[in-house]
Amino acid sequence: MPWTKKDLLGLEKLTAEEITIILDTAKAFSQIATRSIKKVPALQGKTVVNLFFEPSTRTRVSFEVAEKRLSADIVNVNIAASSVTKGETLLDTVKNLCAYRIDAIVVRHSCAGVPHYLAENIEPSIVNAGDGMHEHPTQALLDIYTLREKFGDLKGLKVAIVGDISHSRVARSNIWGLQKLGAKVTVVGPSTLMPREIEKMGDGVEVSYDLPATLKKVDAVNMLRIQREREQQVQFPSLREYARYFGLSTKLIDQTPESLIVMHPGPINRGVELSGTVADGPRSVILQQVTNGLAVRMAVLFLVTGGTKISEE
Ligand code: CP
Repeated sequence: MPWTKKDLLGLEKLTAEEITIILDTAKAFSQIATRSIKKVPALQGKTVVNLFFEPSTRTRVSFEVAEKRLSADIVNVNIAASSVTKGETLLDTVKNLCAYRIDAIVVRHSCAGVPHYLAENIEPSIVNAGDGMHEHPTQALLDIYTLREKFGDLKGLKVAIVGDISHSRVARSNIWGLQKLGAKVTVVGPSTLMPREIEKMGDGVEVSYDLPATLKKVDAVNMLRIQREREQQVQFPSLREYARYFGLSTKLIDQTPESLIVMHPGPINRGVELSGTVADGPRSVILQQVTNGLAVRMAVLFLVTGGTKISEE
């Protein structure tokens, strides 16, 4: 089945087959990083604009490196120095960029739905690099890619997502993506950070408030950061208390099956959701996630801009 979509807006509306196409294409692109010349002409002649209205390290750099490795011409818009600060609307800004006949826009915005709004109104491909508390599809794809690399088939795999589920676009995209590929998801966190009716999401998720008990039953745990910047009010007494009940410490990891792997989308708040020793320890696949993000983003850019066959050059 070929890829047919112009945009990548989220995982909720993708089929298992479409997710698999991205993962398989990313596998092929991952080989490029092992070559002495880490560049292919797949996006030669195409222009990609990176439009980040929110801070980012991993996603922004990963997209930029992916674009360069695909030989695209790239433009990084500095929002703070752009005419957005003079009151220009988002759509006016983007329509002006489109007047240069660009091919794709990678967008991160604090408002949920911005990538969808742009995709409906402009011709170039839109790639969602995170929209508010809604979705972060390429993060979930790289998480799923990492799980596939570790465990093979995801059918029946048990994954816990721990922390600030309410404010997390990473959790939402992971739940949709993992379920479509047959994995079972348990969400863990304080009740104040658990969205209402989360148990009904997709095919249904298990909800737990007991991290030690959950970690004994799962194959992988994805530890999330507390999204302080998105909280309307304080949701728990102190970071110290949060870390005690929902942080992954060295003592706690030692009580789990040896096969359990530890994931984190970054940025990590060391000593809160994850101890430094666990983050840097042998169970951690955090930097492998970052590496895999590059191949996944190359695959996404390649597919949405009309690529079908990966060049052997
Ligand atoms: N995981 C992630 O989105 O990290 P950044 O905010 O640094 O891009």
